[in-house]
Amino acid sequence: MTPSEAVLTAPPAVPAGAAVAALPPGPRLPPLLQTAGFVLGGRRWLEFCRRRYGPAVFMRTVFDDGFVMVFDPGLVRELFQGPHLQLNAGEANALLAPLLGARSVLVLDGAEHLAHRRLMLPPFHGRRLEGYEDTIAQATDAEIDRWPVQSPFRLLSTLQSVTLTVVIRAVFGTLDTATETALRDRIRAMIDPVTQPRGMLSLFLAPRLGIDRGRRRFLAAQAELDELVSAEIARRREPGFASTDDVLSGLVAARDGDGHGLSDEEIRDELVTLLVAGHETTATALAWTFDLVLRRPDVLTRIRAREAGYLDAVIKEALRCRTVIPGVGRVVRGAPFALGPWRIPEGVEINPSIRVIHERRDLYPHPRRFLPERHLGPDAPDTYTWLPFGGGTRRCLGASFAQMEMRVIIERVLERCELTPIARRPDRPVFRAITLAPKHGVRVIQRQAPRPRAPR
Ligand code: HEM
Repeated sequence: MTPSEAVLTAPPAVPAGAAVAALPPGPRLPPLLQTAGFVLGGRRWLEFCRRRYGPAVFMRTVFDDGFVMVFDPGLVRELFQGPHLQLNAGEANALLAPLLGARSVLVLDGAEHLAHRRLMLPPFHGRRLEGYEDTIAQATDAEIDRWPVQSPFRLLSTLQSVTLTVVIRAVFGTLDTATETALRDRIRAMIDPVTQPRGMLSLFLAPRLGIDRGRRRFLAAQAELDELVSAEIARRREPGFASTDDVLSGLVAARDGDGHGLSDEEIRDELVTLLVAGHETTATALAWTFDLVLRRPDVLTRIRAREAGYLDAVIKEALRCRTVIPGVGRVVRGAPFALGPWRIPEGVEINPSIRVIHERRDLYPHPRRFLPERHLGPDAPDTYTWLPFGGGTRRCLGASFAQMEMRVIIERVLERCELTPIARRPDRPVFRAITLAPKHGVRVIQRQAPRPRAPR
């Protein structure tokens, strides 16, 4: 039995005859102190609560009326397998609506969410994925050719550039260079301020205190991006436009059973969602992966030897060791939700802590160590123990795409370049909007010019 199975098979049991508690136990500290725990203690505060109170903990901060943190794969399985209509992820993601739009798949719930998801999933799955590999290799080559020799640079920003090009080409197909460049600039102009360490605060909380400059700048950048995206949607709707094999053409052509298509607003919100969700996360995951593997000659050798399955295990372990999105949420609606021995009342949000689960010593011995071997063989962690992409009907729509993209980019970079990290120690995580990103962007240097491009 693997450690994760041990936990899965032992959910907290309700003793016979015992009254069912609505909520799990949790700290009785005032919300202000619990908020301080989150801000100052982060993962250590959560780990303390898990040890003190158990696999699910009721917590409160000054920003909410209380929520349930979940630290146990068995409970995560119950949640991810729970009824879609009773567990609203869109409501839990509501903070993203001003950024992505109110009709984004990330903030929708119920039937509308499922309908959008069904339309958006096929281009990011199965055989369609192979079709993107050349685009990814080309975008990586072009970026490598711009890297300086003998002077340090930050991997995170250059990888953002690659992943943004890739997602733009997947979503819009081939665009003329001027339009593609304008799209890139406008997307970054909109999200750069948001992804600064205090970006979300200046965007959503500062305006409540009358400080509006950051928000005004953001709205102006968003309007410029909208203008470009709307023009592209209009172009695809023109009679005679020859439909192409990209996500936008698919969304424009899509019809439901009654023959209804998506409105311009819906398409716009989904395009922006894919552009934003589809590049920042992947670039962050890649930067972390390089920070880990460049410090491990043994791992580099095995990747370069193209050992079957090894690079996939490296990527999985990097996504575990350096969790990009630390948690996800579901708001209970309709009726109380049975979670382990509790009945979580309507309106309460349930939050699996991806990061704490990924760092549990009993599930991952020596959790701080980067050990790709964990993901090879029969004892590899299951989908409720390794969950960087969330799960259930809301599991990341781009999970397979992201892992394929990471594989192609890592192979290409390691084939052509010898990179050395500048810092003696690995980079430290810092919150940027919803991601945990490397504080210094993973600074590296290449001492020699990259090897020439080899055809794929
Ligand atoms: C390493 C890279 C990535 C990570 C770590 C990541 C992580 C996540 C997570 C944790 C969620 C929430 C899942 C849940 O609530 O259970 C999510 C949702 C989503 N992701 Fe990703 N993601 C990545 C890459 C991508 C890419 C490349 C795309 C698009 C091309 C994408 C599009 C989406 C969308 C549309 C959703 C919303 C799904 C829904 O609500 O049904 N992501 N992602």
